[in-house]
Amino acid sequence: MDNPPNSLAGKVALITGAGDGMGRQHAILMAERGADVVINDVNAAGAEETASLVRALNRRAHVEVCDVADVAAIRRMVGNAISTLGRIDILVNNAGFGRRQQTWDIGEGDFDLMFDVHVKGSFFCAQAVLPGMKERRWGKIINISSIWGMTAAAVSPHYCAAKAALLGATKAWAREFAPWNIHVNAVAPGGVLSGGPLKFYTKEQLAAREAAVPLKRYCDPREISYAVAFLASPAADFITGQVLSPNGGEVIVGI
Ligand SMILES: NC(=O)c1ccc[n+]([C@@H]2O[C@H](COP(=O)([O-])OP(=O)(O)OC[C@H]3O[C@@H](n4cnc5c(N)ncnc54)[C@H](O)[C@@H]3O)[C@@H](O)[C@H]2O)c1
Repeated sequence: MDNPPNSLAGKVALITGAGDGMGRQHAILMAERGADVVINDVNAAGAEETASLVRALNRRAHVEVCDVADVAAIRRMVGNAISTLGRIDILVNNAGFGRRQQTWDIGEGDFDLMFDVHVKGSFFCAQAVLPGMKERRWGKIINISSIWGMTAAAVSPHYCAAKAALLGATKAWAREFAPWNIHVNAVAPGGVLSGGPLKFYTKEQLAAREAAVPLKRYCDPREISYAVAFLASPAADFITGQVLSPNGGEVIVGI
C-alpha cells in the first residue's frame, strides 16, 4: 500500500531550535510520521533530550549544537548532518526568541541579534540545504513566522519586522525554487504555551490574553506541529508561498 499523504517515511528533517518548545514537538511529530531528524539548538542538553525522544520512536536523530546566527557554523552543521543522515529533505527554520522592547530601548546589538537569528539564520540554512534538494528535485522549507509578522504589535518592533521579513523570503523562495519541486511556506503561530508567553506574562496577564482570542485559549505547541508536519508532507504538494496561521481566530484576514 502507498504511504498515506501525511507520511514522512524515508525523509530527513532539519529543525532549528529543536531543543525546547515547538521545535521539540515538531521533531517528535515528524519522527512519529517516519522522519529521521537533525536537531539543532544552542542548548546542548535540550537538543540531546529531544534526540532521545526521537530515538525512543525508533527514528534516527543527529544533534548539531550551533548558533544559527553564525553562517560558517550553519554550513558545518549541514555538512555534518548530511554525512551522518545522508540528506536533508525538510528544513524547519524555527530557532528564535522574543524580546519585549520598545523602539527607544533597542540598541544596534539588539536589532542585529533579532535579524541575525531569525532572518539571516533562516536564509543561510535554506541556502545550505538547497543543493541536495535541487539535485533530488524534492524539498520542503517551512519558515516559522508569527502573527506579529502579519499584524504587528505595539511592542517588539524588531521582532515584528524580522518575522515579516521571513514572509517576504518565503514568497520569494516559493517562486525561485518551484522549478526544482521545492515548496516553501510559512507557519505564523498565534499564542502558544511555550517560549515568550510563558516567560513574559504573569498568570493573570496570560489569562487576559487568552480571553481575547476567539477560541479563548493559547495552544499547546503540538498543535503548531500539525501545521508544520502537514506542510512538510506530500499532502501539501500543491501548496507553496503560503502562510498558514494557527491562531485560534486571533487574526482573520479578508480578501
Ligand atoms: N511561543 C509563541 O507564542 C510564538 C508565537 C509565534 C511565533 N513563535 C516563534 O516560534 C519559534 C519557536 O518558539 P518557542 O515558543 O518554541 O520558543 P522556545 O524558547 O521554547 O524554543 C526556541 C528554541 O530555539 C533555540 N534557539 C534560540 N536561539 C537560537 C539560535 N540562535 N540558534 C539555535 N537555536 C536557538 C532555543 O535555545 C530554544 O531551544 C520562534 O521562532 C518564535 O519566535 C512563538
